[in-house]
Amino acid sequence: MHRFPLRSLVVLAILVSVVILGRPDNARAQKFVANYDETKIPAFELPDPLKRVSGKRVKTAKQWTKKRRPEVLRLFQEHVYGKAPGRPPRMVFRLIESSTEALAGKAIRKQIRVLFAGTEKGPQMDLLVYLPANTKAAVPVFVGLNFNGNHAIQTDPKIQLARSWHRDDAGQGYVNNRATEKSRGLSASRWSVERCLAAGFGVATIYCGDIDPDYHDEFQNGVHPLFYKDGQKAPSANQWGTIAAWAWGLSRAVDYFETDKQIDQKRVVLLGHSRLGKTALWAGARDQRFAIVISNNSGCGGAALSRRQFGETVWRINNSFPHWFCGNFKKYDNRENQLPVDQHMLVALMAPRPVYIASATGDRWADPRGEFLSALHAEPVYKLLGTEGLGTDKMPKADAPVHGRIGYHLRTGKHDVTDYDWQQYIAFARKHFGQK
Ligand code: GCU
Repeated sequence: MHRFPLRSLVVLAILVSVVILGRPDNARAQKFVANYDETKIPAFELPDPLKRVSGKRVKTAKQWTKKRRPEVLRLFQEHVYGKAPGRPPRMVFRLIESSTEALAGKAIRKQIRVLFAGTEKGPQMDLLVYLPANTKAAVPVFVGLNFNGNHAIQTDPKIQLARSWHRDDAGQGYVNNRATEKSRGLSASRWSVERCLAAGFGVATIYCGDIDPDYHDEFQNGVHPLFYKDGQKAPSANQWGTIAAWAWGLSRAVDYFETDKQIDQKRVVLLGHSRLGKTALWAGARDQRFAIVISNNSGCGGAALSRRQFGETVWRINNSFPHWFCGNFKKYDNRENQLPVDQHMLVALMAPRPVYIASATGDRWADPRGEFLSALHAEPVYKLLGTEGLGTDKMPKADAPVHGRIGYHLRTGKHDVTDYDWQQYIAFARKHFGQK
């Protein structure tokens, strides 16, 4: 009778729910138990970035650039992110606001509405740009998508409130799926704008939800429908999901930079955090106009090796976020070993451009070690192209950044982008741009 006293039952119930529920983002993912034990990682062999599908070895830089790179890009496109269209022929850039006295005189501010179909009635995104005040010669810029609207990255009252869908969160200022004044400046801690300006960099950003709202609606909103063929209702299994759409939007920002004489198109640094870090890597792989690519805590489907199945896995991400990747990626749920690629090959697609992978100690869900290993295993491609790689084969200790051609750091703290991270990115960009 008394073999299970009440207290043990309560403890048992708590344990069971913690194990079963994990970090649920939706009901379908409730049975997932993340592995955080290095000894329980399944045996795996990584695909060799320098071995072609035909089995031939890639021995020269030319073979990589002409043959293997396009092949790897196609594999990611077909099996992971999906194929995206090109630049829309009727796209128009409309300057909707500007000032030479923004941020207490420290910045020039521009807000550009990008009309993808050339009309206000079609899909569009707002690009916010800050440049150092008195910019004369073209300056380098950091560009990245944001989670909460352009108006959330600074308290600047002149930034247009985001107009696209946002998840409701009355406490943070999102009501009826729209931003309110209360959300202004909400994400300012994640954007070291003044530090960038002081270092001579501009900062440009777009709300990811302008390009495609971050929920699964079978691709009816956002940019996808603009490209449907007659009668098409959704992307096919190898066509773009939401991450590829976001990446496509970032390339449209570079299209704008090419028209702005105050921005140096040769020094565009792409940065993204978490789901937007996955996006930064894919955008940087597709579009070599990004001179430097930075992945901050991007995890599964970003910098972390899928085959380790540590923290978030392919099955888990496809179930929690069915809209992020292309339909084909679902074939690899619990079958990571069948993937023709792994994420070190995504990092290798940046070569020979500088790339930076950053992890955080408290972000085990994103698998810091798996992120480091991607950086490390991208190195043979960097070396083949005659550049240095990471410069170490040991995972650096916390807060000890490594800035080779491949950069890496493990920051103490949680899943986030902090001023510490920005300090590293600015130093890394300055080093590679040859700035003192
Ligand atoms: C979830 C998701 C991650 C993602 C993160 C984020 O935790 O599982 O894959 O990186 O959200 O974007 O913040």
